[in-house]
Amino acid sequence: MKNALGQVDTVLLLGGRSEIGLAVVERLVRAGATRVMLAARGGTAPVGRLQALGAEVHVADFDAALPETHPRLVQEAVAKLGDLDVVIPAFGVLGSQAIYDADPVAAARDVAVNYGGHVSVGLAAAARLREQGHGTLVVLSSVAGVRVRRANFVYGSAKAGLDGFAQGLADALHGSGARVVVVRPGFVIGRMTAGMKPAPMSVGVDAVADAVIEGLRSGRQTIWVPARLRAVFAVMRILPRAVWRRLPR
Ligand SMILES: NC(=O)c1ccc[n+]([C@@H]2O[C@H](COP(=O)([O-])OP(=O)(O)OC[C@H]3O[C@@H](n4cnc5c(N)ncnc54)[C@H](OP(=O)(O)O)[C@@H]3O)[C@@H](O)[C@H]2O)c1
Repeated sequence: MKNALGQVDTVLLLGGRSEIGLAVVERLVRAGATRVMLAARGGTAPVGRLQALGAEVHVADFDAALPETHPRLVQEAVAKLGDLDVVIPAFGVLGSQAIYDADPVAAARDVAVNYGGHVSVGLAAAARLREQGHGTLVVLSSVAGVRVRRANFVYGSAKAGLDGFAQGLADALHGSGARVVVVRPGFVIGRMTAGMKPAPMSVGVDAVADAVIEGLRSGRQTIWVPARLRAVFAVMRILPRAVWRRLPR
């Protein structure tokens, strides 16, 4: 439950070992959140740092690829935390287009996580937020979904689906007191992109987390990281296909 000043008290992180997710949760705890649930595959997640900051930290088993378990997971979170102030689905798999080209089944599995998993757990969380009449779902989309590139079009198309889902859900929740914030980072230097050559305008994990906190504070619906990617993609979106497909990978 948010306190009288509207400060976040409880946080549910789905993908409880995500670098970006944990960096956001740490900031929310530093700002006053007292109860956290980290939901991750196998039910293990790094609790020490958050506990050292004074938070009560719960851990739960969560697999994005098992949608039938998602409503129960949200119920478990409510039982442990009470009302959910902020829910952050931060799970995802970057994958490789070359591997997907050779293994369509692997591609479909990752799409089921990157899109389907967000749909099932997002709807389950949204139902709870609507019932409470407050709370924020922070969806980690990507510029990869704003205009899909040939270099990673399986990942990008799942992010495009996710971004559309999040916008539709935001509109569906309008007036309920609950809301959805869409975060669109560019290339983030971190574990997910380890070994890859950073793209122009790359940022670190901390920059994403800072932008999410600032966006939550200012009530923004969409958070681009870095912010100038919004203008860049206003142009990218309308580049002719013949130009777009020739852009460097
Ligand atoms: N890093 C970037 O460049 C970037 C850019 C734009 C958007 N994003 C998005 O931001 C989000 C967070 O990324 P990140 O940088 O924090 O990456 P990360 O540190 O690699 O975290 C991704 C997390 O997703 C979890 N995950 C994967 N499959 C799962 C499944 N089936 N069930 C449950 N959890 C699963 C992983 O769990 P394990 O710990 O078990 O592997 C991992 O903890 C992702 O949605 C990503 O697509 C990232």
